[in-house]
Amino acid sequence: MTPDDMKREAARAALTHVESGMRLGLGHGTTAKHFVDLLGEKVREGLRVTCVPASEFTRGQAESLRIPLTTLDDTPELDLCVDGADEIGPDLGLIKGGGGALLREKIVAAAAHSMLVIADDSKVVSCLGRFALPVEVVPFGLGATRRAVERLAERLALPPVLVLRKDADGHAFVTDGGHHILDCHFERIDDPAALAAGLATIPGVVEHGLFLGFAKGAYVAGTSGVRFIGP
Ligand code: A5P
Repeated sequence: MTPDDMKREAARAALTHVESGMRLGLGHGTTAKHFVDLLGEKVREGLRVTCVPASEFTRGQAESLRIPLTTLDDTPELDLCVDGADEIGPDLGLIKGGGGALLREKIVAAAAHSMLVIADDSKVVSCLGRFALPVEVVPFGLGATRRAVERLAERLALPPVLVLRKDADGHAFVTDGGHHILDCHFERIDDPAALAAGLATIPGVVEHGLFLGFAKGAYVAGTSGVRFIGP
């Protein structure tokens, strides 16, 4: 089984939680893309759901599959959000945002009564931080915001190694919300809650990729099948 097959199997497992009439949040990324594909098949067979996509990419995919869409303005509460993750750590703490959609992903996940994570088993870690933590920042004052994040890292004894994410043309990556991303190579985040609290105090930081207390469970696929990680 390839890693992509594993992602699809994890997505298939999460689909068993979807019932007719549900309001769903749809994540972003290669694993979430499988979920949306499989959901599209069910919708074609008659499943009734209404969904909020967490990215313009996912919106386009869902529209092409004729999955009914709504917005958080019209539907401010969702029953379930299904999304991938870059790392799944202790207590189902997550790093997300490798695909650059972390702000909308977090808004959508926060609007949902429940969040299920889908991933291949390479994403499960004993400590968050090997995957660089994406921090979404407004372009204005980028240098000052970057310095403030570095100072926070120094206070928390984390390596202050921040890289401005670039797109394929070498320009600063721009998110769906018009912001940039600093990828923070902290290597090992022993106290994610302290880091999240610190980042939340920095003007210019719009959001960060630590999702703490969001996930209610994760379907993780490996070569020997899919397992569920619960709280
Ligand atoms: C998108 O911004 C991310 O949060 C993704 O959910 C995460 O990067 C996982 O992506 P893959 O499913 O592509 O590994």
